[in-house]
Amino acid sequence: MDNPRIIGIVGSLRSGSYTKKVVQIALDAAREMGAQTELIDLAEYHLLFPFQVPRDEMPDDVSRLKEKIASAQGVILGTPEYHGSFSGVIKNMLDLMGFAEFEGKMIGLVGVGGGALGAINALNGLRAIGRQLHAWVIPEQASLPNVSSHFEGEELTDERLVERIRTVGRQVTRFSVLHNSRQIDQFMKEWETAPKNPGME
Ligand SMILES: Cc1cc2nc3c(=O)[nH]c(=O)nc-3n(C[C@H](O)[C@H](O)[C@H](O)COP(=O)(O)O)c2cc1C
Repeated sequence: MDNPRIIGIVGSLRSGSYTKKVVQIALDAAREMGAQTELIDLAEYHLLFPFQVPRDEMPDDVSRLKEKIASAQGVILGTPEYHGSFSGVIKNMLDLMGFAEFEGKMIGLVGVGGGALGAINALNGLRAIGRQLHAWVIPEQASLPNVSSHFEGEELTDERLVERIRTVGRQVTRFSVLHNSRQIDQFMKEWETAPKNPGME
């Protein structure tokens, strides 16, 4: 498989969301590597409803989203930091999904925070959920602190942050290809050596 399907899911419903811009940067890098990409804006899905409704009464948007995630090889999850965690919007989406959608998928994490600590807590929380769903959450991630200070209009001006986000998009794509190819030995080797070990430099 040379052209994996990689989707990006935006965990903020805010118009002008920085999370959305960051997910798009990661997806652009994935597309440049040959991935078929799609950005999923949860504002376009009716997913917020009393949770314990019978399965056959769930809005059609739930099955629409399930199909989109199930048909992807890689998923980039984007979230803002809210009260030291990820957003309720992304948790709500994840709680409607399960192993059928996520098991064996590559996941890349990106997040933004209004404050100096960025989205580290949010991303750690999502990492734990990815493990629970038996997904492969890649080691590389991008957390943007003081997010509004790094944007001029639509543009993220800090080149190092751009590169970090793009690395997430590229790695999700590369590992999705390897994981779905016959090169499983190479996948395992690259997986183990993916994070740069600062102690070795
Ligand atoms: C309810 C709420 C809680 C927030 N909590 C935090 C926080 O704990 N840490 C932080 O750095 N920023 C926090 N923020 C700021 C958001 O991370 C920031 O506004 C971010 O840009 C929102 O993402 P978005 O631009 O994609 O909508 C919070 C914002 C809201 C609305």
